[in-house]
Amino acid sequence: MNLIYEGKAKKIYTTDREDVYLQEFKDDATAFNGVKKDKISHKGEINNFISSEIFKYLKENSIPNHFIEKVSDTEMLIKKVEIIKVEVVCRNIAAGSLVKKLGFKEGEELENPIIEFYLKSDELGDPLFTEEHIYALKLADKHDIGIIRKMTNYINTLLKKFFLQRGIKLVDFKLEFGKDKHGNILLADEISPDTCRFWDSLTNKKLDKDRFRFDLGEVEESYQEIKNRLS
Ligand code: TMP
Repeated sequence: MNLIYEGKAKKIYTTDREDVYLQEFKDDATAFNGVKKDKISHKGEINNFISSEIFKYLKENSIPNHFIEKVSDTEMLIKKVEIIKVEVVCRNIAAGSLVKKLGFKEGEELENPIIEFYLKSDELGDPLFTEEHIYALKLADKHDIGIIRKMTNYINTLLKKFFLQRGIKLVDFKLEFGKDKHGNILLADEISPDTCRFWDSLTNKKLDKDRFRFDLGEVEESYQEIKNRLS
């Protein structure tokens, strides 16, 4: 096994199968583009579990994705894809940068989900950009973005239902997509409290990485709470 990529929260290794990678979840947490750094105990294990459950559920509901199987507490096997350097954010309730940058009121329910694109670039700080920028930078073409929008809307419908059944409001989330060797677009990366905003549906208590970002306390407990509700 060779380490081929190390990100802020995960490592990716090659395996003895050409089309298969091993994805390992780390306890490391960063926020504000790496400005704030720490470890969240057991996060790797918790996020591997949560992401595995969600990708399994999405696969059962016809969303093509990179997940193959969970192979240890912190590792899963995934299909090899070339990541499209676009982070896709989908929002149902105003929070985070919608409040900070655009003046929405936190907690305001959006009439329709908002899909946004961010350039996946640590050096440039992941700026918000438009479809035209995606085409000009040749990160994806119109056909790809059409598929990505459709998949994102359907994933949102599926996940909103999935979480609501578990007493959780899906406020917003970030997705990444990749292409396999045949050119098929697959949902990739992870879906976890690191990449979503989850609020308790009765109390609106934040159960996600905002607890780490803004020093709200009970960080590990909140990740564990999401895991428990999926168990
Ligand atoms: P934002 O409101 O800070 O723009 O975040 C929107 C959603 O995207 C939220 O669920 C957290 C997630 N996200 C990531 O997964 N990675 C990131 O680097 C950022 C900024 C947000």
